[in-house]
Amino acid sequence: MHILTVVGARPHFIKAFPVSNELPDSYEEVLVHTGQHYDDVLSQVFFDELPIPEPDYNLGVGSGGHAEQTAEMMTQLDALIEQEAPDTVLVYGDTNSTLAAALVAAKRSPQLVHVEAGLRSHNWEMPEEVNRVVTDHISDRLCAPSKLAVKILHDEGLFDGVYLTGDVMYDALLQIKERALAQSTVLDELGYADGEYILATVHRPGNTDDERRLSAIIEGLATAPLPVVFPAHPRTVEALQRHGLWERTTDSLHLIDPVGYLDFVRLLHGAERIATDSGGVQKEAFYLDVHCVTLRDETEWMETVECGWNVLVGADRDAISRELRTEVSHSEKPTLYGGGTAAKEIVDVIGDQ
Ligand code: UD1
Ligand code: UDP
Repeated sequence: MHILTVVGARPHFIKAFPVSNELPDSYEEVLVHTGQHYDDVLSQVFFDELPIPEPDYNLGVGSGGHAEQTAEMMTQLDALIEQEAPDTVLVYGDTNSTLAAALVAAKRSPQLVHVEAGLRSHNWEMPEEVNRVVTDHISDRLCAPSKLAVKILHDEGLFDGVYLTGDVMYDALLQIKERALAQSTVLDELGYADGEYILATVHRPGNTDDERRLSAIIEGLATAPLPVVFPAHPRTVEALQRHGLWERTTDSLHLIDPVGYLDFVRLLHGAERIATDSGGVQKEAFYLDVHCVTLRDETEWMETVECGWNVLVGADRDAISRELRTEVSHSEKPTLYGGGTAAKEIVDVIGDQ
């Protein structure tokens, strides 16, 4: 089996390593990085600290408009897939890198496997919603993280090649957690102890591009009863400056550069709660027993909301303020996304005759 795996953005590197490590020796994997993320803090740091090999190819596509970025990836991936002639193309998540690889693979006809299939926000303003719906409908095999994701695929008429594998990000977290707690010194560096701060991340265009929403989020976070550690994505840094919110943010929040996965897991593990608009971070909070306040109007991970570990507050200043101080008590945590064996299940899906 010859597999061509396409990654390109921060969450891909985290999702891909458990699967890469689970592949049997008889499988050959070629790892292609599109270059969608290129800053060291969004890319190289993950290759340095996670058990993932350096990419065989980096396409160096970089930033750009959706059409420009996706088209450049497709052009290069088309040539590469012709040259490598893989049996399987493996894609993760819902980014432009995911879509570009899926479109090329679907037309060149190797088996196309999509990990994290069946997620829906039902918000078509999100570029990711377009990417994930298209990718699901042109894939041969769909690895769904939850029963709800399987149901969504069925409701859209997709039955063949649908597998319930569980969430590969749970595997990643289980494999890294102890090392993160033992090795990361980020709390000492920032001067906090466990439970003495709130962690926040914001990077969705729906929040950063809209001055009103971004301002309401910053104002809501600024009312937090504890210091807010805020590792800021470059998109967010640029938006804060563009909207004239930079000083207000740096005065009221503890803004830092994005951190590597070990430091992020350590920060999340020690946080009193988390406020985020990230997809992956909502689940990581759930896995680490940290209450999550989601800065969005909807989520693809509805199960975490239904069981009370996550609350949707949108970009409503008062709701953010309230949910950052409300006492929370959780009943028992259900198993929603598998048992940390998704990578093995995914490898079985890839090789299933
Ligand atoms: C992308 C994904 C998003 C995912 C996120 C993970 C799409 C459409 N979006 O969003 O689903 O949640 O990655 O973090 O694929 N930039 C840098 N350095 C970098 C990369 C980006 O400065 O290394 C800046 C550039 O100004 C760029 C902007 O960030 O224009 C946005 O980058 P882009 O990759 O287009 O989207 P993300 O917001 O990172
Ligand atoms: N993450 C990280 N450092 C940070 C912020 C996030 O390593 O400073 C990790 C986080 O643990 C999660 C992933 O990046 O696994 C989520 O990526 P992001 O929020 O950028 O994307 P999304 O999940 O929303 O697509």
